[in-house]
Amino acid sequence: MKIIKKIKKMQTYSVSLRKKGMSIAVVPTMGCLHEGHLKLIDTARSHAAAVIVTIFVNPAQFGPKEDFSKYPRPLRSDFALCRKHGADAVFAPQPDEMYPADFSTWVEELALSKGLCGKSRPSHFKGVTTVVTKLFNATLPDFAVFGRKDFQQAKIIGRMVRDLNFPVKIVLEDIVREKDGLAKSSRNIYLSDNERRGAISISRSLKSAKLAILDGEKKIGTVRKNIVSEIEGGGGRIDYVEIVGSENLEPVKKISGKTLIAVASFFGKTRLIDNIEIVAGLARDRNSKSEYRNSKR
Ligand code: PAF
Repeated sequence: MKIIKKIKKMQTYSVSLRKKGMSIAVVPTMGCLHEGHLKLIDTARSHAAAVIVTIFVNPAQFGPKEDFSKYPRPLRSDFALCRKHGADAVFAPQPDEMYPADFSTWVEELALSKGLCGKSRPSHFKGVTTVVTKLFNATLPDFAVFGRKDFQQAKIIGRMVRDLNFPVKIVLEDIVREKDGLAKSSRNIYLSDNERRGAISISRSLKSAKLAILDGEKKIGTVRKNIVSEIEGGGGRIDYVEIVGSENLEPVKKISGKTLIAVASFFGKTRLIDNIEIVAGLARDRNSKSEYRNSKR
């Protein structure tokens, strides 16, 4: 497995793969890889002849008071995991390689970025779309694999790819969860034991909301109130609980069709996000019922 730190070298390597007729799938990450990322790498493997993982903690997507400097960077073990999962190369540049001192060009999506995390993290998605553009230009992929935990991010990148005609197909993977339902996240390691226990309330409240909706609950206010009270009961502080259309991410007045419930909440200083997709109107199935029961244990 190659470890590449310079953009030029990355481009030369990707061009050489393409000359051999190999397709490329990229998995953009900020490192501190967990099972969610590993699933993205496995999915990338199933789509293309060559897999490139990028590991870059992108300063441009962190706000001034956010956790950029303390974000975990276990590079060696990340490389080992990438190797184990059959990556052909890891692109791991330094910040000054990606952002020269006089960097002044940004890529910004202006509709889907407005709500949800865009409200509480105003320049976050501009940082994401800019760095993803740069990572695409460095790795020259045919496919790029992202996780549905960052649902809004995935939608924004999909829109950017469409609007700016990137020749890249976006592939999405489902959220990977701990046994008790907590969505896997590199930030889970910040949680104290107590916060970790309380954080289960996020996924539990989302599952209950989904079941209630599939059982016919139509009142947004009731669904929202129940989620808020379950998370606050677990010791969380709500950033937002929003019920939006899955395609345009606009708040819905009525629950119908493809809907997304998205949550961001703080446990201690750690901000966690999670979401659940619902196709309202479909009768609930046995699986979701037993999944819910298991999570209550
Ligand atoms: O999802 C992430 O880890 C990051 O936002 C991404 C897409 C790698 C851009 O820095």
